[in-house]
Amino acid sequence: METEEGVIQDSLVIERLDAAEASQDHISAEIESIHAAYRTSVDDGGAEETQPRLDFSPYRSSLLRHPTKNLHHTDPETIELWSPAFGHQDVHPLESNLTIQHNGEPLGERIIVRGRVLDGDGRPVRNQLIEVWQANSAGRYIHKRDQHPAPIDPNFTGVGRAITGDDGSYEFLTIKPGPYPWKNHFNAWRPAHIHFSLFGTDFTQRMITQMYFPGDPLFALDPIYQSITDPLARDRLVAAYDHSITSHEWATGYNWDIVLSGSNRTWMEEEDAE
Ligand SMILES: [Fe+2]
Repeated sequence: METEEGVIQDSLVIERLDAAEASQDHISAEIESIHAAYRTSVDDGGAEETQPRLDFSPYRSSLLRHPTKNLHHTDPETIELWSPAFGHQDVHPLESNLTIQHNGEPLGERIIVRGRVLDGDGRPVRNQLIEVWQANSAGRYIHKRDQHPAPIDPNFTGVGRAITGDDGSYEFLTIKPGPYPWKNHFNAWRPAHIHFSLFGTDFTQRMITQMYFPGDPLFALDPIYQSITDPLARDRLVAAYDHSITSHEWATGYNWDIVLSGSNRTWMEEEDAE
């Protein structure tokens, strides 16, 4: 339980962070320093990292809320006695189309995102519930916390669901999201991304990650993306443009496979990031 003293201390830390709002150059220098130390460690025989650093100082807004203690395994059999569950029949195939949820067409670049969910041995993970959420083409989320002055699109909510097929495949039709500002540091912008949640076969297996678009100039500046110190692990979050998915006079296509375990696994968040 949090003591009053703890709350006051936390608010003092937050005030200090606000007062010393870092510049992008400062954040970028911190990122480079941490990455250089990681490269040295690997060169010296240290372990390669595939997951994000939880205690990653350039990601300022996570400093007071990242897990600091070892995670405890819960007993899934107990949890699942009362946890929510979904039935495959509850997810309609049209829920994977984010462009038909209102009366008109959403604005922006129509895209197809297609891929497969695989386990560490390359086997398809079938009947997997995938949920996505994203900003609109102007970089604006529909929720109230997002107040930056970009337009809301009345024809775009930015959420969708799909169930993977027998070959582990999934597909979404959506609008390419825009980059958006956030309050991590002065003039901080997130690269365009789509949030993905994989429900797992049980409620206790839910995992969350983000998909990015190739060639984004904001990659190097983003402390969330860069909290994964290993460049190969970071690259796995970036979809590939795929012209065979691009649809004639309709939508551009991207391919993104998600690997749930093994050395090529996709980075998964411990909790929702910005
Ligand atoms: Fe986001």
